[in-house]
Amino acid sequence: MESPHRHLLIVLIATFAIFDLGRAQDQEGFISLDCGLPPNEASPYTHPKSGLIFTSDTNSIQSGKIGRIEASLEETYMKMLWTLRYFPDGKRNCYSFNIKQGTNYLIRARFLYGNYDGLNNYPKFNLYIGPNFWKSVDLNADDGVSMGEIIHSPRSNYLDVCLVKTDTSTPFISALELRPLPNNSYITTSGSLTYWTQYFISESEKVLKFPEDHYDRIWVPYLEKEWKKISTAVKGNNTGSFNLPETIVTTAATPANASEPLTYTEYLDTPRDKIFYFLHFSEVQVLKANETREFNISWNGKIISENYRPVYLQPKTFYNAYPVTCEDDGECVLELKKTQRSTLPPLLNAIEVYVVVDSPQSETNENDVLTIRNIKATYGLKKIVWQGDPCVPQEFSWDSLACFIVDKSTPPIITSLNLSSSGLTGTIADGIQNLTHLEKLDLSNNSLTGLVPEYLANMKFLTLLNLSKNNLNGSIPQALRDREKKGLTIIFDEEGKNPCSPGSCAPKKKSPVLIIVAVVASVVVVIIVVLVLVFVLKKNKASIHVEAQPPSSVTPRGNVTSSGISDSSIENKRKRFTYAEVMEMTKNLQRPLGEGGFGVVYHGDLNGSQQVAVKVLAQSSAQGYKEFKAEVELLLRVHHINLVSLVGYCDEKDHLALIYEYMSNVDLKHHLSGKHGSSVLSWSTRLQIAIDSALGLEYLHTGCRPSMVHRDVKCTNILLGEHLVAKIADFGLSRSFQLGEESQVSTVIAGTPGYLDPEYYKTGRLAEMSDVYSFGIVLLEIITNQRVIDQTREKSHITEWTAFMLNRGDITRIMDPNLYGDYNSRSVWRALELAMLCANPSSEKRPTMSQVVIELKECLISENSMKSKNQDMNSQSSLEVSMSFDTKDVPSAR
Ligand SMILES: *[C@@H]1O[C@H](CO)[C@@H](O)[C@H](O)[C@H]1NC(C)=O
Ligand SMILES: *[C@@H]1O[C@H](CO)[C@@H](O)[C@H](O)[C@H]1NC(C)=O
Ligand SMILES: *[C@@H]1O[C@H](CO)[C@@H](O)[C@H](O)[C@H]1NC(C)=O
Ligand SMILES: *[C@@H]1O[C@H](CO)[C@@H](O)[C@H](O)[C@H]1NC(C)=O
Ligand SMILES: *[C@@H]1O[C@H](CO)[C@@H](O)[C@H](O)[C@H]1NC(C)=O
Ligand SMILES: *[C@@H]1O[C@H](CO)[C@@H](O)[C@H](O)[C@H]1NC(C)=O
Ligand SMILES: *[C@@H]1O[C@H](CO)[C@@H](O)[C@H](O)[C@H]1NC(C)=O
Ligand SMILES: *[C@@H]1O[C@H](CO)[C@@H](O)[C@H](O)[C@H]1NC(C)=O
Ligand SMILES: *[C@@H]1O[C@H](CO)[C@@H](O)[C@H](O)[C@H]1NC(C)=O
Repeated sequence: MESPHRHLLIVLIATFAIFDLGRAQDQEGFISLDCGLPPNEASPYTHPKSGLIFTSDTNSIQSGKIGRIEASLEETYMKMLWTLRYFPDGKRNCYSFNIKQGTNYLIRARFLYGNYDGLNNYPKFNLYIGPNFWKSVDLNADDGVSMGEIIHSPRSNYLDVCLVKTDTSTPFISALELRPLPNNSYITTSGSLTYWTQYFISESEKVLKFPEDHYDRIWVPYLEKEWKKISTAVKGNNTGSFNLPETIVTTAATPANASEPLTYTEYLDTPRDKIFYFLHFSEVQVLKANETREFNISWNGKIISENYRPVYLQPKTFYNAYPVTCEDDGECVLELKKTQRSTLPPLLNAIEVYVVVDSPQSETNENDVLTIRNIKATYGLKKIVWQGDPCVPQEFSWDSLACFIVDKSTPPIITSLNLSSSGLTGTIADGIQNLTHLEKLDLSNNSLTGLVPEYLANMKFLTLLNLSKNNLNGSIPQALRDREKKGLTIIFDEEGKNPCSPGSCAPKKKSPVLIIVAVVASVVVVIIVVLVLVFVLKKNKASIHVEAQPPSSVTPRGNVTSSGISDSSIENKRKRFTYAEVMEMTKNLQRPLGEGGFGVVYHGDLNGSQQVAVKVLAQSSAQGYKEFKAEVELLLRVHHINLVSLVGYCDEKDHLALIYEYMSNVDLKHHLSGKHGSSVLSWSTRLQIAIDSALGLEYLHTGCRPSMVHRDVKCTNILLGEHLVAKIADFGLSRSFQLGEESQVSTVIAGTPGYLDPEYYKTGRLAEMSDVYSFGIVLLEIITNQRVIDQTREKSHITEWTAFMLNRGDITRIMDPNLYGDYNSRSVWRALELAMLCANPSSEKRPTMSQVVIELKECLISENSMKSKNQDMNSQSSLEVSMSFDTKDVPSAR
């Protein structure tokens, strides 16, 4: 089946449309490059047809040569296609832009061969966005004219668009355009979007673009035989969050036969492609009192909205929250079917379909990239391979560098820089200290002058520094010399250049044997001193004395079971309390704080200085006594800032008690409930709480050996301390104890209903991934503030409810109404997606807690960076935007 795509290209490239010039539109943020335009020719110039202002590309690229199409072709094509830049040298050549991170960009690249080289030979090459493949350009297949469009949200403040050689033919480019898109539009949960279909309703041939589309999207006219165009002459003034052109808001198609549904079929070239669709609707008729227009919208047979009624000149956009695939033959069918009540046929104003381009490879650490670019500029290095991302893809990585690459999702870092024999002049660039992970630095055989900078001593990973064969003055700073003792090799020839004689100034080389002896000796001394100190301190603490355990802010990846027996008995003595002491610290159990799993919690006071929370275990819980002791010994040694630390315990006959650090701000449930006069937690605070809790769990899973499974993650087990720092409570205990009153399920089952991993019912086993599931539920509660299980709801479980609401409604109905729309929909999206991923019924599909932490941090960054900018846009967009969600991955009611 011939796709409509080919035909469009011709429409896009040639100069069919005539625009009225009177309406010069704002082009803020637009980058419009006429590639190969010699800077001495009029640059910038205003494109006569569109009013777009084009400039020469010389400031955005350092390589390539200028070409021009055959003169006879010029009148057929737009002016910005007359010149081009071609790249005979280097494998990868990149345009580099400074842009605003967090903005979604529409990037458009145009190619017109026009026999510029007189060879009549169409080239073929690849395009990359940063380190990720975008598309291949094959001018042969496209008869010498081609175009690529992609919607991409850069992860840093720069953007590289690269042309990569694939065979002997020479890559070239005619024009490159970057358009920032409306805030909060075309936001997707994965990858970038590449143009496939962008139709509006019109029977003419005229495309709709800038200036009528303020964002320079190019809409192609489309009207099927079975459709009828309807429109209104009234000028609407609402273009919605997608900033649709007015023509789209006021023009729609309905089925020609009013009793038939309106259908549209999309054909993909590659059937397995993942796609996003955007469907735009706006009523264009003033309905009479006895008229109704109501229809169901379905995509490939799946209902995405039922009983939808478009509102007069108020555009609304439906799109899928998660990428979908079409049928096996690459066919996707949109069906708009009027409902029984409806007196009018359905309508459709515009449809967009995009194919997902995955961008799995992380760009190199942003700090390293900025620094190395800075160094390149400082020394005026004109290396052709030094373009684009320095480390990835590895086949195009910059020479003279070495990078540390873990996996695709982790930003690579630069670990070695070798600018030996590179003709460097001037002083050693200050920027080098910002390459903080550098292990090897070779600047030898250049003409560097000035002093050896002292800051090199602060580069803590440096093991090799070669400064020989330069014109550097003075000697190596002492701080740097000191590093030599710790394994840094410095190569530096001081002879001749150095004013003082080698004998008096330069430290004499010590024999390696002597160094080793000295090192061993000093280590032994240190060990002895430590041992003596420990012994003395131990003696002074003979009586029971509990040290306040400030949770460590670092996260030692310690081996919790590794320390020796004697050590553990010292700990126990310090942390074990008698029942009398428990009664004293709680003033005879005077002030209950609440009831948790396993027993009642009382306020306590330790030595009048430290507030504690004392959990007195119910007698019935004491059955697991033996495990209790083993468990407590383990818990006493788990310290993390996001875990409520156990200060001590009591096990005297039947009395078991656990003494925890006191958390002044109760638990998360309490705060979400809004009861008890607690103020509403803002969205960013909620994200921070989620991050804290995730870090606590991550520590249990990966920081402890053997790893620990919490088994009962829920909002009431997330306690908030000062400044609302969140800490996980009750970890590890469910190993020894069965849960009490909160469990309605049979006593063999641990955990809390609603939070419990559905796989537990199959396997009977709770693993790390079960905690991830429970954490997903907590995250959903944080987002929605809905009850986890509510039998009065149609969808009783929170995951079902969320999926259901995602499918039919908008974000505002999912989000906790107490937030009053004060959040950025992009970060909410990501958090929602993450929560649903964690709560996936299949444990294999869930992320690990480490991945959860990374994703949540990114949510918070995006929330903080977007928040100040577009609060106004958010509430508006979330009212208009709907999405659909695949319910098949959602657990059924239990
Ligand atoms: C334009 O917007 C204003 C306020 O936003 C509204 O009152 C007015 O009715 C709108 N006009 C049209 C034609 O929609
Ligand atoms: C319109 O569609 C209905 C139902 O499919 C059909 O019965 C009717 O004949 C069609 N009318 C015309 C004019 O084609
Ligand atoms: C609606 O009312 C108008 C008169 O106001 C009438 O002409 C028309 O036939 C009615 N339409 C329907 C579907 O009942
Ligand atoms: C519209 O969707 C609802 C809910 O799925 C369904 O009950 C109804 O039959 C649908 N109507 C049509 C005309 O398909
Ligand atoms: C740096 O590159 C040169 C060749 O250009 C090589 O001789 C030298 O060993 C390299 N230095 C290091 C530290 O690898
Ligand atoms: C030093 O650099 C020069 C060119 O700058 C080169 O000819 C020479 O071979 C280099 N020497 C060493 C040892 O690398
Ligand atoms: C090093 O990085 C810091 C911030 O990351 C920046 O302020 C400083 O200008 C950089 N220094 C150089 C010399 O590039
Ligand atoms: C240091 O640089 C010089 C000159 O380029 C070279 O001859 C020497 O081998 C280098 N030393 C090391 C250890 O790389
Ligand atoms: C997005 O919002 C910010 C802040 O409100 C604004 O400066 C920027 O121009 C907006 N971008 C677009 C493309 O509307």
